[in-house]
Amino acid sequence: MTEQARRPIAAFDHHSPQHAEDPVGTYRRLRAENPVAWTEAHGGYWVLGDYASVFEASRDDDLFSSARHESGGEGLAIVIPKAPTAFHIPIELDPPTFRGYRKIVNKVTAPAAVKKLDPVIERFVTGFIDEIIESGEADLAFVAGVPAAVTVDWLGLDAADYKRYVDAMHTLVSAAPGSEEYNHARDVAVPWVEKTVRAHIAARRQNPTDDATSEFIRAEIDGRPMSDDEIYSILELLISGGVGTTASLVTQSLVWLYENPDQRQRLIDDPSLLDVAVEEFLRVFSPTQALARTVTRDAEFQGVHLRGGDRALLSWASANRDPDQFDDPDTVDITRWPNRHMAFGLGVHRCAGSHLGRAMARAMISQVLERMPDYEVDLDGLVTYPDQGTNAGYHSIPCRFTPGERRGEPLFGARR
Ligand code: HEM
Repeated sequence: MTEQARRPIAAFDHHSPQHAEDPVGTYRRLRAENPVAWTEAHGGYWVLGDYASVFEASRDDDLFSSARHESGGEGLAIVIPKAPTAFHIPIELDPPTFRGYRKIVNKVTAPAAVKKLDPVIERFVTGFIDEIIESGEADLAFVAGVPAAVTVDWLGLDAADYKRYVDAMHTLVSAAPGSEEYNHARDVAVPWVEKTVRAHIAARRQNPTDDATSEFIRAEIDGRPMSDDEIYSILELLISGGVGTTASLVTQSLVWLYENPDQRQRLIDDPSLLDVAVEEFLRVFSPTQALARTVTRDAEFQGVHLRGGDRALLSWASANRDPDQFDDPDTVDITRWPNRHMAFGLGVHRCAGSHLGRAMARAMISQVLERMPDYEVDLDGLVTYPDQGTNAGYHSIPCRFTPGERRGEPLFGARR
């Protein structure tokens, strides 16, 4: 086999404007031509686009590492190009070091722990909808506040500051690097988060409570308590994981439900369909589109020859529309079951917040359908993230609906 055949080249860049215009189409073409292809963009990387390759790579953390490696410069290695973010535990660790930390995180994100958050989720969803319900018009992107407030509150931080956490964490993954918005997040918003969260850790060391941060303070790794740096590293990851992804899922689902009024009515008439529908929304909208790994050694993989140090992009979004795995993959079928989508990733790093993400998404969609059942989206006014390479979604979704009544007190004291 020639070297060219073993390194099939594709003209592909998941951060390009062309890709942002039609991510589903570019992945469809790529999958059909070369399910595992090499692109020269961003210093060169493999793109894994079919279900079988993404499945195999995400389960082989010995060959596909999530850790920071020297090759290709410093920085967060699970994105391409590497990003200048703080070190995040456990997402940037490989087994065996990874395991003890993930066990600690699992304790606070397990189904039983998330079940206890149901009233908190309900309170925030109600409060955020209260803020807009009387006016009859809103930017549906307001729902982004809910996961931010729930996550921050769950960690024991002040939920009234939710917007500052969104500004910091969500902007870093959804704004174009170099833009004014991005620079503000990097230089002002993120340092504020770090200062606030570190002060919170110090306060909880003195006076632990029943919040998730106090759980981390009580937890032990290799028979010792975790350091402030380790706890900060986990908290920052939970905030950034919790803030943008669920909002992206919910906003894309709400736009689709507007465009498909018969399906919206079906969910209104039979809310028991929602659990299965959310899995289909996860599959087709894949809020986290693709994440990266670094190849640890030379190896044969799915008919290509990988070299140690190569970078690889695992596209959950593309795998989720592979016709070899899903019948009629571009049809959104809210009753599709089974649905073995990879929107939460796969393997040891599979999303730790999946139960929380699902619970928040269900609560938000069901309350919007119940309280604003006739919402109409101004499709011409939709603004998508300029870059859809890592996180897909909308910045702005103008909408109108029949006004309704508030149900509770203002969430954060005085009306904003
Ligand atoms: C719809 C919502 C969500 C989606 C689509 C999503 C997606 C993902 C994906 C694809 C991964 C795999 C990363 C990898 O393989 O490198 C991941 C990991 C992770 N997610 Fe989520 N996520 C969601 C919600 C959340 C929430 C609400 C939280 C926390 C509050 C969270 C926390 C995490 C953490 C801590 C990891 C790292 C797990 C590890 O490395 O072991 N996620 N998520």
